[in-house]
Amino acid sequence: KKMALAAADTEGIKIYDPAYTNTAVARSAISYIDGDKGVLLYRGYPIEELAEKSSFLEVSFLLLYGELPTKPELDHWNSMIMHHTFIHENLRDFMQSFRYDSHPMGMLVSSFAAMSTFHPEANPALSGADIYNDIRLRNKQIHRIMGKVPTIAANAYRHRMGRPFNHPVNHLTYTENFLYMMDRLSESNYRPNPQLARALDILFILHADHEMNCSTAAMRHIASSQVDPYTAMSGAAAALYGPLHGGANEAVLRMLEQIGTVQNVPAFIESVKQKKGKLFGFGHRVYKNYDPRAKIIQRIAYEVIEICGGNEPLIEVAVALEKAALSDSYFIDRKLYPNVDFYSGLIYRSMGFPTDMFPVLFAIPRVAGWLAHWNEDIEKGERRIWRPLQVYVGEKERAYVPLQQRQ
Ligand code: ACO
Repeated sequence: KKMALAAADTEGIKIYDPAYTNTAVARSAISYIDGDKGVLLYRGYPIEELAEKSSFLEVSFLLLYGELPTKPELDHWNSMIMHHTFIHENLRDFMQSFRYDSHPMGMLVSSFAAMSTFHPEANPALSGADIYNDIRLRNKQIHRIMGKVPTIAANAYRHRMGRPFNHPVNHLTYTENFLYMMDRLSESNYRPNPQLARALDILFILHADHEMNCSTAAMRHIASSQVDPYTAMSGAAAALYGPLHGGANEAVLRMLEQIGTVQNVPAFIESVKQKKGKLFGFGHRVYKNYDPRAKIIQRIAYEVIEICGGNEPLIEVAVALEKAALSDSYFIDRKLYPNVDFYSGLIYRSMGFPTDMFPVLFAIPRVAGWLAHWNEDIEKGERRIWRPLQVYVGEKERAYVPLQQRQ
Protein backbone atom coordinates (compact mmCIF):
# COMPACT_ATOMS: atom_id res chain seq x y z
CA LYS A 1 0.00 0.00 0.00
CA LYS A 2 2.78 2.38 1.01
CA MET A 3 4.63 1.71 -2.20
CA ALA A 4 1.54 2.37 -4.30
CA LEU A 5 0.89 5.59 -2.40
CA ALA A 6 4.49 6.76 -2.70
CA ALA A 7 4.46 6.02 -6.38
CA ALA A 8 1.20 7.91 -6.83
CA ASP A 9 2.53 10.89 -4.92
CA THR A 10 5.36 11.25 -7.38
CA GLU A 11 3.05 10.87 -10.42
CA GLY A 12 4.67 7.50 -11.04
CA ILE A 13 2.82 4.21 -11.41
CA LYS A 14 -0.94 4.38 -11.12
CA ILE A 15 -3.45 1.80 -12.22
CA TYR A 16 -5.75 3.53 -14.68
CA ASP A 17 -8.95 1.48 -14.59
CA PRO A 18 -11.87 3.50 -15.94
CA ALA A 19 -15.24 2.00 -14.95
CA TYR A 20 -13.35 -0.24 -12.48
CA THR A 21 -13.38 -3.29 -14.73
CA ASN A 22 -10.32 -4.73 -12.97
CA THR A 23 -10.46 -3.18 -9.53
CA ALA A 24 -11.78 -4.94 -6.42
CA VAL A 25 -12.74 -2.38 -3.80
CA ALA A 26 -13.79 -4.63 -0.93
CA ARG A 27 -13.64 -8.14 0.45
CA SER A 28 -17.21 -9.34 0.67
CA ALA A 29 -18.92 -12.57 1.74
CA ILE A 30 -22.46 -11.56 0.69
CA SER A 31 -23.04 -12.63 -2.87
CA TYR A 32 -20.95 -14.48 -5.43
CA ILE A 33 -21.24 -14.41 -9.21
CA ASP A 34 -19.58 -16.73 -11.71
CA GLY A 35 -20.26 -14.77 -14.87
CA ASP A 36 -18.98 -17.45 -17.23
CA LYS A 37 -21.12 -20.21 -15.77
CA GLY A 38 -24.19 -18.05 -15.05
CA VAL A 39 -24.09 -18.69 -11.28
CA LEU A 40 -25.37 -16.39 -8.54
CA LEU A 41 -25.09 -17.36 -4.87
CA TYR A 42 -26.31 -15.42 -1.84
CA ARG A 43 -24.11 -16.38 1.11
CA GLY A 44 -23.38 -19.65 -0.71
CA TYR A 45 -26.99 -20.57 -1.58
CA PRO A 46 -27.95 -20.78 -5.29
CA ILE A 47 -30.38 -18.07 -6.31
CA GLU A 48 -32.66 -20.67 -7.94
CA GLU A 49 -33.13 -22.51 -4.64
CA LEU A 50 -33.74 -19.35 -2.64
CA ALA A 51 -36.28 -18.14 -5.21
CA GLU A 52 -38.12 -21.44 -5.00
CA LYS A 53 -38.05 -22.07 -1.25
CA SER A 54 -37.59 -18.80 0.64
CA SER A 55 -39.43 -15.57 1.25
CA PHE A 56 -37.89 -12.16 0.60
CA LEU A 57 -37.64 -11.42 4.32
CA GLU A 58 -35.79 -14.70 4.93
CA VAL A 59 -33.39 -13.84 2.12
CA SER A 60 -32.81 -10.31 3.38
CA PHE A 61 -31.97 -11.74 6.84
CA LEU A 62 -29.56 -14.14 5.13
CA LEU A 63 -27.88 -11.32 3.23
CA LEU A 64 -27.56 -9.15 6.31
CA TYR A 65 -26.57 -11.69 8.94
CA GLY A 66 -24.95 -14.49 6.95
CA GLU A 67 -27.28 -17.39 7.81
CA LEU A 68 -30.84 -18.37 7.01
CA PRO A 69 -32.98 -17.46 10.03
CA THR A 70 -34.46 -20.04 12.39
CA LYS A 71 -38.24 -19.79 12.83
CA PRO A 72 -37.98 -17.63 16.01
CA GLU A 73 -35.35 -15.42 14.32
CA LEU A 74 -37.57 -14.98 11.28
CA ASP A 75 -40.61 -14.16 13.44
CA HIS A 76 -38.59 -11.56 15.33
CA TRP A 77 -37.11 -10.11 12.12
CA ASN A 78 -40.58 -9.91 10.56
CA SER A 79 -42.13 -8.25 13.60
CA MET A 80 -39.29 -5.71 13.98
CA ILE A 81 -39.58 -4.71 10.34
CA MET A 82 -43.37 -4.60 10.23
CA HIS A 83 -43.28 -2.55 13.45
CA HIS A 84 -41.47 0.18 11.52
CA THR A 85 -43.67 0.52 8.45
CA PHE A 86 -45.32 3.85 9.37
CA ILE A 87 -43.52 7.02 8.33
CA HIS A 88 -43.51 10.39 10.11
CA GLU A 89 -46.47 12.60 9.17
CA ASN A 90 -44.06 15.34 8.09
CA LEU A 91 -42.39 12.93 5.69
CA ARG A 92 -45.84 12.18 4.28
CA ASP A 93 -46.38 15.93 3.86
CA PHE A 94 -42.96 16.25 2.26
CA MET A 95 -43.90 13.57 -0.27
CA GLN A 96 -47.20 15.30 -0.97
CA SER A 97 -45.34 18.45 -1.96
CA PHE A 98 -43.80 16.91 -5.10
CA ARG A 99 -45.11 17.96 -8.50
CA TYR A 100 -48.11 15.83 -9.47
CA ASP A 101 -46.23 14.06 -12.26
CA SER A 102 -42.87 13.57 -10.51
CA HIS A 103 -40.96 10.44 -11.42
CA PRO A 104 -41.35 8.02 -8.49
CA MET A 105 -37.58 7.40 -8.40
CA GLY A 106 -37.01 11.13 -7.95
CA MET A 107 -39.42 11.04 -5.02
CA LEU A 108 -37.72 7.94 -3.63
CA VAL A 109 -34.21 9.38 -3.83
CA SER A 110 -35.29 12.62 -2.15
CA SER A 111 -37.40 10.90 0.50
CA PHE A 112 -34.53 8.60 1.46
CA ALA A 113 -32.33 11.66 1.97
CA ALA A 114 -35.12 13.37 3.92
CA MET A 115 -35.38 10.34 6.21
CA SER A 116 -31.97 11.18 7.64
CA THR A 117 -33.39 14.39 9.09
CA PHE A 118 -36.06 12.41 10.97
CA HIS A 119 -33.58 9.97 12.49
CA PRO A 120 -30.53 11.94 13.63
CA GLU A 121 -29.53 9.13 16.02
CA ALA A 122 -27.95 7.45 12.99
CA ASN A 123 -25.63 10.41 12.55
CA PRO A 124 -22.78 10.25 15.10
CA ALA A 125 -21.95 13.91 14.57
CA LEU A 126 -25.47 14.93 15.65
CA SER A 127 -26.36 12.32 18.26
CA GLY A 128 -23.01 11.40 19.72
CA ALA A 129 -24.20 7.77 19.56
CA ASP A 130 -21.69 5.29 18.24
CA ILE A 131 -23.47 3.52 15.40
CA TYR A 132 -20.21 1.86 14.39
CA ASN A 133 -19.82 -0.08 17.62
CA ASP A 134 -23.42 -0.22 18.81
CA ILE A 135 -24.98 -3.19 16.99
CA ARG A 136 -28.43 -2.55 18.50
CA LEU A 137 -28.47 1.00 17.16
CA ARG A 138 -27.36 -0.24 13.77
CA ASN A 139 -30.00 -2.96 13.71
CA LYS A 140 -32.63 -0.38 14.61
CA GLN A 141 -31.76 1.62 11.49
CA ILE A 142 -31.88 -1.60 9.44
CA HIS A 143 -35.36 -2.53 10.76
CA ARG A 144 -36.57 1.01 10.25
CA ILE A 145 -35.28 1.31 6.70
CA MET A 146 -36.57 -2.12 5.68
CA GLY A 147 -39.96 -1.26 7.20
CA LYS A 148 -40.38 2.22 5.76
CA VAL A 149 -39.06 1.76 2.23
CA PRO A 150 -42.19 -0.02 0.88
CA THR A 151 -44.36 2.70 2.46
CA ILE A 152 -42.34 5.45 0.78
CA ALA A 153 -42.42 3.53 -2.51
CA ALA A 154 -46.20 3.05 -2.34
CA ASN A 155 -46.67 6.73 -1.46
CA ALA A 156 -44.61 7.74 -4.49
CA TYR A 157 -46.98 5.71 -6.65
CA ARG A 158 -50.12 7.04 -4.95
CA HIS A 159 -48.89 10.61 -5.31
CA ARG A 160 -48.23 10.03 -9.01
CA MET A 161 -51.80 8.72 -9.35
CA GLY A 162 -53.25 11.68 -7.44
CA ARG A 163 -54.65 9.46 -4.69
CA PRO A 164 -54.40 9.68 -0.89
CA PHE A 165 -51.72 7.59 0.82
CA ASN A 166 -52.69 4.33 2.47
CA HIS A 167 -51.54 3.32 5.92
CA PRO A 168 -49.54 0.10 6.18
CA VAL A 169 -51.28 -3.05 7.40
CA ASN A 170 -48.82 -4.92 9.53
CA HIS A 171 -50.54 -8.29 9.79
CA LEU A 172 -49.93 -8.84 6.07
CA THR A 173 -46.63 -10.15 4.74
CA TYR A 174 -43.98 -7.68 3.66
CA THR A 175 -44.91 -7.97 -0.01
CA GLU A 176 -48.68 -8.21 0.55
CA ASN A 177 -48.55 -5.04 2.64
CA PHE A 178 -46.74 -3.24 -0.16
CA LEU A 179 -49.38 -4.34 -2.69
CA TYR A 180 -52.11 -3.33 -0.25
CA MET A 181 -50.67 0.16 0.20
CA MET A 182 -50.40 0.55 -3.56
CA ASP A 183 -54.00 -0.28 -4.23
CA ARG A 184 -56.63 -0.18 -1.54
CA LEU A 185 -58.24 2.53 0.50
CA SER A 186 -59.74 1.05 3.62
CA GLU A 187 -60.89 -2.50 3.00
CA SER A 188 -59.22 -4.14 5.96
CA ASN A 189 -60.09 -7.66 4.83
CA TYR A 190 -58.46 -7.14 1.44
CA ARG A 191 -55.61 -9.52 0.60
CA PRO A 192 -53.72 -9.25 -2.68
CA ASN A 193 -53.85 -12.25 -5.03
CA PRO A 194 -51.49 -14.74 -3.30
CA GLN A 195 -49.93 -15.91 -6.58
CA LEU A 196 -49.13 -12.36 -7.62
CA ALA A 197 -47.81 -11.53 -4.15
CA ARG A 198 -45.58 -14.62 -4.33
CA ALA A 199 -44.41 -13.67 -7.85
CA LEU A 200 -43.45 -10.20 -6.61
CA ASP A 201 -41.77 -11.72 -3.55
CA ILE A 202 -39.64 -13.89 -5.88
CA LEU A 203 -38.75 -10.84 -7.95
CA PHE A 204 -37.72 -9.12 -4.71
CA ILE A 205 -35.47 -12.11 -3.89
CA LEU A 206 -33.86 -11.98 -7.33
CA HIS A 207 -33.15 -8.25 -7.04
CA ALA A 208 -31.98 -8.20 -3.42
CA ASP A 209 -28.23 -8.22 -4.01
CA HIS A 210 -25.72 -8.49 -6.79
CA GLU A 211 -22.27 -7.95 -5.29
CA MET A 212 -20.42 -4.76 -6.26
CA ASN A 213 -22.96 -3.33 -8.76
CA CYS A 214 -23.09 0.40 -9.44
CA SER A 215 -25.59 1.31 -6.70
CA THR A 216 -24.02 -0.96 -4.06
CA ALA A 217 -20.60 0.45 -4.81
CA ALA A 218 -22.19 3.92 -4.46
CA MET A 219 -23.66 2.91 -1.07
CA ARG A 220 -20.28 1.72 0.18
CA HIS A 221 -18.49 4.71 -1.30
CA ILE A 222 -20.79 7.31 0.23
CA ALA A 223 -20.98 5.49 3.58
CA SER A 224 -17.18 5.36 3.72
CA SER A 225 -17.36 9.07 4.61
CA GLN A 226 -19.33 7.91 7.70
CA VAL A 227 -22.47 9.73 6.66
CA ASP A 228 -25.70 8.18 8.01
CA PRO A 229 -27.20 5.19 6.14
CA TYR A 230 -30.28 7.13 4.96
CA THR A 231 -28.19 9.66 3.06
CA ALA A 232 -25.92 6.92 1.68
CA MET A 233 -29.00 4.97 0.58
CA SER A 234 -30.31 8.04 -1.22
CA GLY A 235 -27.07 8.12 -3.24
CA ALA A 236 -27.33 4.40 -3.94
CA ALA A 237 -30.91 4.87 -5.16
CA ALA A 238 -29.74 7.74 -7.37
CA ALA A 239 -27.20 5.40 -9.00
CA LEU A 240 -29.92 2.80 -9.48
CA TYR A 241 -32.15 5.33 -11.24
CA GLY A 242 -29.93 5.41 -14.36
CA PRO A 243 -31.04 3.53 -17.51
CA LEU A 244 -27.85 1.46 -17.58
CA HIS A 245 -28.66 0.08 -14.12
CA GLY A 246 -32.05 -0.11 -12.37
CA GLY A 247 -33.70 2.13 -14.92
CA ALA A 248 -33.12 -0.54 -17.57
CA ASN A 249 -36.42 -2.35 -16.85
CA GLU A 250 -38.26 0.89 -17.62
CA ALA A 251 -36.10 1.40 -20.73
CA VAL A 252 -36.94 -2.16 -21.90
CA LEU A 253 -40.66 -1.47 -21.77
CA ARG A 254 -40.31 1.84 -23.60
CA MET A 255 -38.18 0.04 -26.21
CA LEU A 256 -40.79 -2.75 -26.64
CA GLU A 257 -43.54 -0.15 -26.97
CA GLN A 258 -41.51 1.67 -29.58
CA ILE A 259 -40.93 -1.54 -31.57
CA GLY A 260 -44.64 -2.28 -31.27
CA THR A 261 -44.99 -5.43 -33.36
CA VAL A 262 -43.02 -8.57 -34.16
CA GLN A 263 -42.69 -7.39 -37.79
CA ASN A 264 -40.58 -4.43 -36.64
CA VAL A 265 -38.06 -6.58 -34.76
CA PRO A 266 -35.56 -7.17 -37.62
CA ALA A 267 -35.31 -3.45 -38.40
CA PHE A 268 -34.79 -2.68 -34.71
CA ILE A 269 -32.03 -5.29 -34.42
CA GLU A 270 -30.34 -3.74 -37.45
CA SER A 271 -30.46 -0.28 -35.88
CA VAL A 272 -28.85 -1.65 -32.68
CA LYS A 273 -26.08 -3.25 -34.73
CA GLN A 274 -25.50 0.12 -36.40
CA LYS A 275 -25.08 1.56 -32.88
CA LYS A 276 -28.17 3.73 -33.21
CA GLY A 277 -29.47 2.47 -29.89
CA LYS A 278 -29.11 -0.28 -27.31
CA LEU A 279 -31.00 -3.46 -26.87
CA PHE A 280 -32.07 -2.71 -23.32
CA GLY A 281 -32.28 -5.72 -21.02
CA PHE A 282 -29.36 -7.33 -22.80
CA GLY A 283 -25.73 -7.50 -21.74
CA HIS A 284 -24.04 -7.44 -18.38
CA ARG A 285 -20.67 -6.40 -17.06
CA VAL A 286 -20.21 -9.72 -15.27
CA TYR A 287 -22.46 -12.33 -16.91
CA LYS A 288 -20.96 -13.48 -20.18
CA ASN A 289 -23.04 -16.63 -20.50
CA TYR A 290 -26.52 -15.94 -19.17
CA ASP A 291 -28.03 -14.17 -16.20
CA PRO A 292 -29.54 -16.91 -13.98
CA ARG A 293 -32.14 -14.45 -12.73
CA ALA A 294 -33.40 -13.89 -16.28
CA LYS A 295 -34.33 -17.58 -16.62
CA ILE A 296 -36.42 -17.54 -13.43
CA ILE A 297 -38.03 -14.26 -14.44
CA GLN A 298 -38.97 -15.53 -17.87
CA ARG A 299 -40.93 -18.40 -16.27
CA ILE A 300 -42.66 -16.03 -13.83
CA ALA A 301 -43.53 -13.68 -16.70
CA TYR A 302 -45.62 -16.35 -18.39
CA GLU A 303 -47.31 -17.32 -15.10
CA VAL A 304 -48.18 -13.74 -14.18
CA ILE A 305 -49.41 -12.86 -17.64
CA GLU A 306 -51.72 -15.87 -17.52
CA ILE A 307 -53.07 -14.97 -14.06
CA CYS A 308 -53.64 -11.40 -15.21
CA GLY A 309 -55.74 -12.44 -18.20
CA GLY A 310 -53.15 -13.68 -20.70
CA ASN A 311 -53.28 -10.52 -22.78
CA GLU A 312 -49.85 -8.94 -23.11
CA PRO A 313 -49.05 -8.30 -26.77
CA LEU A 314 -45.55 -7.05 -25.98
CA ILE A 315 -44.48 -10.48 -24.71
CA GLU A 316 -44.51 -11.67 -28.33
CA VAL A 317 -42.27 -8.77 -29.29
CA ALA A 318 -39.92 -9.60 -26.39
CA VAL A 319 -39.73 -13.28 -27.35
CA ALA A 320 -39.07 -12.42 -31.01
CA LEU A 321 -36.43 -9.89 -29.99
CA GLU A 322 -34.67 -12.39 -27.73
CA LYS A 323 -34.75 -15.06 -30.44
CA ALA A 324 -33.40 -12.69 -33.09
CA ALA A 325 -30.60 -11.42 -30.84
CA LEU A 326 -29.54 -14.86 -29.64
CA SER A 327 -29.06 -16.04 -33.22
CA ASP A 328 -27.20 -12.95 -34.42
CA SER A 329 -23.39 -12.89 -34.47
CA TYR A 330 -23.28 -9.25 -33.23
CA PHE A 331 -24.79 -10.31 -29.91
CA ILE A 332 -23.14 -13.76 -29.81
CA ASP A 333 -19.65 -12.35 -30.38
CA ARG A 334 -20.12 -9.75 -27.68
CA LYS A 335 -21.63 -12.32 -25.29
CA LEU A 336 -24.83 -10.33 -24.89
CA TYR A 337 -27.65 -12.30 -23.24
CA PRO A 338 -30.90 -11.24 -21.58
CA ASN A 339 -30.32 -9.83 -18.12
CA VAL A 340 -32.66 -9.57 -15.12
CA ASP A 341 -34.45 -6.58 -16.61
CA PHE A 342 -35.47 -8.05 -19.93
CA TYR A 343 -38.68 -9.71 -18.72
CA SER A 344 -39.22 -8.06 -15.32
CA GLY A 345 -40.87 -5.02 -16.91
CA LEU A 346 -43.44 -7.21 -18.64
CA ILE A 347 -44.33 -8.81 -15.31
CA TYR A 348 -44.73 -5.45 -13.63
CA ARG A 349 -46.80 -4.15 -16.50
CA SER A 350 -49.10 -7.19 -16.41
CA MET A 351 -49.55 -6.64 -12.70
CA GLY A 352 -50.71 -3.11 -13.45
CA PHE A 353 -47.68 -1.07 -12.38
CA PRO A 354 -47.02 2.04 -14.47
CA THR A 355 -43.68 1.99 -16.30
CA ASP A 356 -42.04 4.65 -14.18
CA MET A 357 -42.59 2.52 -11.05
CA PHE A 358 -40.37 -0.27 -12.41
CA PRO A 359 -37.06 1.05 -11.05
CA VAL A 360 -38.78 1.56 -7.69
CA LEU A 361 -39.72 -2.12 -7.69
CA PHE A 362 -36.03 -2.86 -8.16
CA ALA A 363 -34.99 -0.44 -5.41
CA ILE A 364 -37.26 -1.86 -2.68
CA PRO A 365 -35.48 -5.22 -2.45
CA ARG A 366 -32.03 -3.86 -3.34
CA VAL A 367 -32.21 -1.88 -0.09
CA ALA A 368 -31.54 -5.20 1.71
CA GLY A 369 -28.34 -5.64 -0.31
CA TRP A 370 -27.24 -2.04 0.27
CA LEU A 371 -27.75 -2.44 4.01
CA ALA A 372 -25.92 -5.78 4.04
CA HIS A 373 -22.93 -4.12 2.36
CA TRP A 374 -23.11 -1.11 4.68
CA ASN A 375 -23.16 -3.41 7.69
CA GLU A 376 -20.38 -5.62 6.34
CA ASP A 377 -18.19 -2.63 5.68
CA ILE A 378 -18.66 -1.43 9.24
CA GLU A 379 -18.01 -4.86 10.75
CA LYS A 380 -15.33 -6.24 8.49
CA GLY A 381 -14.20 -3.48 6.16
CA GLU A 382 -11.19 -1.21 6.28
CA ARG A 383 -13.29 1.69 7.58
CA ARG A 384 -11.33 4.15 5.52
CA ILE A 385 -12.78 6.80 3.29
CA TRP A 386 -12.89 5.74 -0.37
CA ARG A 387 -10.79 8.02 -2.44
CA PRO A 388 -9.81 6.81 -5.92
CA LEU A 389 -6.92 8.30 -7.81
CA GLN A 390 -7.09 10.06 -11.12
CA VAL A 391 -4.72 10.47 -14.01
CA TYR A 392 -4.44 14.23 -14.44
CA VAL A 393 -4.38 15.29 -18.09
CA GLY A 394 -4.95 19.04 -17.68
CA GLU A 395 -2.60 22.03 -17.80
CA LYS A 396 0.42 22.06 -15.55
CA GLU A 397 0.91 25.21 -13.45
CA ARG A 398 0.67 28.37 -15.57
CA ALA A 399 0.70 32.14 -15.13
CA TYR A 400 -2.57 33.86 -14.16
CA VAL A 401 -3.89 36.29 -16.81
CA PRO A 402 -5.78 39.36 -15.45
CA LEU A 403 -9.32 39.81 -16.87
CA GLN A 404 -8.44 42.86 -18.99
CA GLN A 405 -5.61 41.03 -20.73
CA ARG A 406 -7.52 37.84 -21.64
CA GLN A 407 -8.26 37.27 -25.32
N1 ACO B 1 -27.19 -3.54 -26.87
C1 ACO B 1 -26.33 -3.42 -27.90
N2 ACO B 1 -25.00 -3.48 -27.80
C2 ACO B 1 -24.51 -3.69 -26.56
C3 ACO B 1 -25.34 -3.83 -25.43
C4 ACO B 1 -26.72 -3.76 -25.62
N3 ACO B 1 -27.56 -3.89 -24.61
N4 ACO B 1 -24.57 -4.02 -24.33
C5 ACO B 1 -23.30 -3.99 -24.76
N5 ACO B 1 -23.26 -3.79 -26.11
C6 ACO B 1 -22.07 -3.76 -26.96
C7 ACO B 1 -21.31 -2.45 -26.77
O1 ACO B 1 -21.75 -1.46 -27.67
C8 ACO B 1 -19.90 -2.91 -27.06
O2 ACO B 1 -19.77 -3.06 -28.45
P1 ACO B 1 -18.36 -2.74 -29.19
O3 ACO B 1 -17.39 -3.75 -28.69
O4 ACO B 1 -18.66 -2.84 -30.65
O5 ACO B 1 -17.99 -1.33 -28.80
C9 ACO B 1 -19.83 -4.30 -26.45
O6 ACO B 1 -21.20 -4.79 -26.50
C10 ACO B 1 -19.34 -4.32 -25.01
O7 ACO B 1 -20.22 -3.54 -24.22
P2 ACO B 1 -19.78 -2.56 -23.06
O8 ACO B 1 -20.62 -1.32 -23.13
O9 ACO B 1 -18.29 -2.39 -23.04
O10 ACO B 1 -20.20 -3.41 -21.80
P3 ACO B 1 -20.25 -2.90 -20.30
O11 ACO B 1 -19.84 -4.03 -19.46
O12 ACO B 1 -19.54 -1.60 -20.13
O13 ACO B 1 -21.80 -2.56 -20.08
C11 ACO B 1 -24.07 -2.85 -19.63
C12 ACO B 1 -22.68 -3.43 -19.47
C13 ACO B 1 -24.11 -1.41 -19.10
C14 ACO B 1 -25.06 -3.68 -18.80
C15 ACO B 1 -24.46 -2.89 -21.12
O14 ACO B 1 -24.49 -4.23 -21.59
C16 ACO B 1 -25.78 -2.18 -21.41
O15 ACO B 1 -25.78 -0.98 -21.58
N6 ACO B 1 -26.92 -2.93 -21.45
C17 ACO B 1 -28.22 -2.34 -21.67
C18 ACO B 1 -28.73 -1.74 -20.38
C19 ACO B 1 -29.19 -2.80 -19.42
O16 ACO B 1 -29.91 -3.71 -19.76
N7 ACO B 1 -28.76 -2.63 -18.15
C20 ACO B 1 -29.14 -3.54 -17.07
C21 ACO B 1 -27.94 -4.24 -16.57
S1 ACO B 1 -28.37 -5.38 -15.32
C22 ACO B 1 -28.66 -4.45 -13.96
O17 ACO B 1 -28.21 -3.39 -13.73
C23 ACO B 1 -29.54 -5.04 -13.05
